[in-house]
Amino acid sequence: MSLTVLNNGGGSSSIELAKANAILDKYDSWDIKREALIPVLQDFQHEYGYIPAPIAALISQRLDLTLPEIYGVATFYTDFKVLQKAEHRILLCEGIACYMCGSKGLAKLVKEKLGIEHTEVTPDGKWTVERANWCFGACNLMPIVEIDHTVYGNVTAEKLSQLIDDINTGKFKEHHH
Ligand code: FES
Repeated sequence: MSLTVLNNGGGSSSIELAKANAILDKYDSWDIKREALIPVLQDFQHEYGYIPAPIAALISQRLDLTLPEIYGVATFYTDFKVLQKAEHRILLCEGIACYMCGSKGLAKLVKEKLGIEHTEVTPDGKWTVERANWCFGACNLMPIVEIDHTVYGNVTAEKLSQLIDDINTGKFKEHHH
């Protein structure tokens, strides 16, 4: 997940991102931004029940901290729950356009194929899936799916299933674009 994508989240489909930014706005007046990290993490933990990866990226941007600094603090304090790391991450765009155009079916495919739902990790530690509630700025190619930082367009359940298989068998490069 790059920060560019987060920056593209303007407009009506970025409800979640707007909410996340509003949480961070409360700390704008703090002289030393990084001192806000713990209260910020507490706020997001309260909001989401854990610290989602895209939120960590947003915190990094807004508080001018590196991701290792954020995860360092988040994992040091056992109060905070960060996602268990999986080898591969599927990020389903659930911006309004993608949501209207099949991202629900993709979530269903992931559930059926990998047996995991939002934020869960497969028992072998290979796969996790997350939803992005903002637009990737590529609605013309909807629905959009990002796997391991590569963005795929016009993704059908069939194509996603094939991508997962190819990554599992090490053939993913054929689809890499
Ligand atoms: S809603 Fe725009 S790329 Fe998914």
